[in-house]
Amino acid sequence: MQTHKSILFIIFSIVLVTWMIEGCRKNNLELTAYPVQIPAHFPATDYYQRNPISKEGFELGRRLFYDNRFSVDGSISCGSCHQQVAAFGTYDHDLSHGVNGSHGIRNAMSLFNLAWRTSYGWDGKYTSLDAVYAAHINSPIEFGETIGSIINKLKTDSRYQQEFKKVYGSSYISEPRIFNALTQFVSAFISSATKYDSVKQNLKTFTASEQAGYTVFLNKCNSCHAEPLFTDFSYRNIGLPLNTFNDKGRITITGNKADSLKFRVPSLRNLFKSYPFLHDGRFIGFEQIFDHYQSGVQQSATLDPLLTNGIPLSAAERTALVDFFRTLTDNNFTSNSNFAAPQ
Ligand code: HEC
Ligand code: HEC
Repeated sequence: MQTHKSILFIIFSIVLVTWMIEGCRKNNLELTAYPVQIPAHFPATDYYQRNPISKEGFELGRRLFYDNRFSVDGSISCGSCHQQVAAFGTYDHDLSHGVNGSHGIRNAMSLFNLAWRTSYGWDGKYTSLDAVYAAHINSPIEFGETIGSIINKLKTDSRYQQEFKKVYGSSYISEPRIFNALTQFVSAFISSATKYDSVKQNLKTFTASEQAGYTVFLNKCNSCHAEPLFTDFSYRNIGLPLNTFNDKGRITITGNKADSLKFRVPSLRNLFKSYPFLHDGRFIGFEQIFDHYQSGVQQSATLDPLLTNGIPLSAAERTALVDFFRTLTDNNFTSNSNFAAPQ
């Protein structure tokens, strides 16, 4: 009896293992890994191990990112607000533009080095990229659409059917697959090919003025805009006057009074591409930023303690800072044709 049971068990195991191997073979998609390159001076991350990017997934995400069918009236895509020339922010516009000529209340964020973030949006409202996409789709002032309706539009496109099959093993188009492909595309936006990065890698040296600007930066700005990503990922109140939309930032998400007027510390990479500045794009130039830190800071209960007395910046320090900021421009990122709209 015992032998009988063992034989049955062995047969059962063989069937199970064969079935599993067969299953794997069916799902054994022929995908090519996307070459993610993270410079040694960037903080270590296991993001790309947890969220692998394939070349095929990247290409599908790219097609989706530039597809106007995401919007209810077919007028805009992700790429309309997140423009490559502006480091994937909106070039020259303070507030974002959605369907039917509508305006949002915030500056479209530039998109790069997202793999190091764990919360998204100016107030950290979103704890996943999927949540960002879902909010964009449903917002009446952004895409004004529903995911179901977008899927119905994409289903009729045989090219998408082929691409989804290539990436996911079947031509079935679903929200998780769309969101995953978008994430494969945007998380490939690593911006690290700047003069600053070359200096960090001992491949170039700063000019005297750039070096002077770097020193000012380290003394006066780095505690929040921490290098090498130029943000410490925190939310802070830098004493800006409340805007006409009464946007109080992070308190709207947490309901905690201590979060009033706090906004995310943005990266200072690609500043020359991503202006206008701040959560509502209120400043277009560096002088306005410097004037604010020097003499515009408004006192309030939640003002960041580092800014209680403002940050004095002499004319020479300002010139040097601007020279340093120029070394944070990644022209390869903003002109790389792999990130542009597909043909
Ligand atoms: C109508 C303009 C608009 C469109 C279209 C749009 N975005 Fe955005 N995006 C924004 C704005 C504005 C924010 C900042 C939102 C906030 O702070 O509330 C943002 C934030 C983001 C963020 C968070 C970035 C960060 O660092 O926290 C990601 C990621 C993003 N968008 C990706 C996308 C993708 C992918 C699409 C297409 C599915 C898309 N966006 C479509 C305007 C837009
Ligand atoms: C106490 C933390 C803190 C310090 C110190 C600080 N910043 Fe900021 N910075 C922020 C925050 C937070 C924002 C976003 C505020 C908003 O949009 O409401 C910001 C925004 C900016 C922006 C706009 C970037 C963009 O893409 O919109 C620039 C430029 C800037 N800071 C430069 C500087 C410089 C130069 C210094 C040093 C002289 C400095 N900051 C010091 C926290 C800080």
